[in-house]
Amino acid sequence: MNSPSEGAKVYFDSVPDQWDALYSHENRLRYAFNRIMRKGLFQRYELTFEKCGHIPGSTVLEMGCGTGRYSIEFAKRGAARVVGVDFAPSMIEFSRVMAKNMGVENVCSFRQGDVRTLAFHEPFDIVLAIGLFDYIADAESVINIAARLTSRVFICTFPTYSAFRGFHRKIRYNWIRRCPIYYYTSHQIQRMVRPYFHTADIIPMSGGLFVSAHKN
Ligand SMILES: C[S@@+](CC[C@H](N)C(=O)[O-])C[C@H]1O[C@@H](n2cnc3c(N)ncnc32)[C@H](O)[C@@H]1O
Repeated sequence: MNSPSEGAKVYFDSVPDQWDALYSHENRLRYAFNRIMRKGLFQRYELTFEKCGHIPGSTVLEMGCGTGRYSIEFAKRGAARVVGVDFAPSMIEFSRVMAKNMGVENVCSFRQGDVRTLAFHEPFDIVLAIGLFDYIADAESVINIAARLTSRVFICTFPTYSAFRGFHRKIRYNWIRRCPIYYYTSHQIQRMVRPYFHTADIIPMSGGLFVSAHKN
């Protein structure tokens, strides 16, 4: 393992089923437990669809798409084209199978790659980076890429530090999984996001901050 982000890649590549199960309704007891213990995961999902504006006919880029839960939902809500990118091969494979099972494989495409080296020539109406910046050492350069690729709205989340959660995550991620976590303040986010967008709303949620930034 030769870089901190390699740790995140190896870790996420080993957990597509566990990650996706966090959203699953199949086991009602576990779902109820996750709704309480992983409150932020559900808050950011609901806020994304509330804040992204008109979806039908839109083009969407999801950076760090994981198992494709957001991408597929955008396709189901009428997006014209959705591209999900993730550097973990098993996440991409999972997303492709899921899109096919949901009948949206003609709208969604999933690419394996690092969001820090994205080479798209055309912008997207909506760009998402949900749960991504936790694992990005140089957030500023990724925000620059995202801003360049956004024509309408950029939605992203950032974790904030708290003593209890920070310590807990340090043991679970930094030490056991060798997957470093990065934290942000509202002030840092303002400074990084604001220059590229007409408006940038920063909304507190469980465990972090939700950002919806609009070009016009
Ligand atoms: C916490 S998961 C979030 C997945 C999805 N956005 C969601 O909210 O369900 C973070 C994802 O970002 C991916 N990721 C982290 N750093 C990345 C990078 N530099 N390039 C591409 N993917 C990355 C991981 O592989 C992982 O699947």
